[in-house]
Amino acid sequence: MISLRTATHDDIPTLANVLAAVQAQTDPSIDVEKARQSMIESIPEYFGKDEPESLLSIVELDGEPVGRLRVVRFEDRIFLGGIQIHPDFQNRGVGTHLIAALIKECRAAGKPLQLDVERTNTRARQLYERLGLRHNGESETDIHLQFSPTA
Ligand SMILES: CC(C)(COP(=O)(O)OP(=O)(O)OC[C@H]1O[C@@H](n2cnc3c(N)ncnc32)[C@H](O)[C@@H]1OP(=O)(O)O)[C@@H](O)C(=O)NCCC(=O)NCCS
Repeated sequence: MISLRTATHDDIPTLANVLAAVQAQTDPSIDVEKARQSMIESIPEYFGKDEPESLLSIVELDGEPVGRLRVVRFEDRIFLGGIQIHPDFQNRGVGTHLIAALIKECRAAGKPLQLDVERTNTRARQLYERLGLRHNGESETDIHLQFSPTA
């Protein structure tokens, strides 16, 4: 079963684990332990400083923490501000389940779902497009995607 719970200070080691492992997945030259340590030091600063509409969650699979999800619920739109599933738990449908739930929420609320994906992250982009998100602009580094509730 896939579930979400609000992240707290106690989850900093879990968040660091997930982020370091995902970082090392795209850049194998990274020292995972070093990355993990530096995140353990930097993540605490983040708590309490995020946008008030933002919710940071721990993703659990059968009770085990496997990922991180940051969603910002604005009045007129929902922004998926970050989704990372630990490499050991990727490709099991967790990401699809979470994004499909956000799409359902957007449809019910009549709000668009927006997110930014790095140009180089073609696999994630494919997943988003498969779920119905479409090109909605770009920056030098990112593609902006949107699901429109009226589509
Ligand atoms: C992208 C991600 C959230 C998807 O979650 P997931 O639970 O692995 O996805 P699902 O099992 O529901 O769906 C599988 C699809 O996810 C995408 N995907 C799988 N592994 C991925 C990875 N390491 N990086 C990017 N996309 C990935 C692919 O489109 C895949 O479909 P395919 O096998 O047909 O290519 C997850 O793989 C992840 O955290 N990747 C690394 C971090 C990342 O890229 N985050 C997104 C930033 S915008």
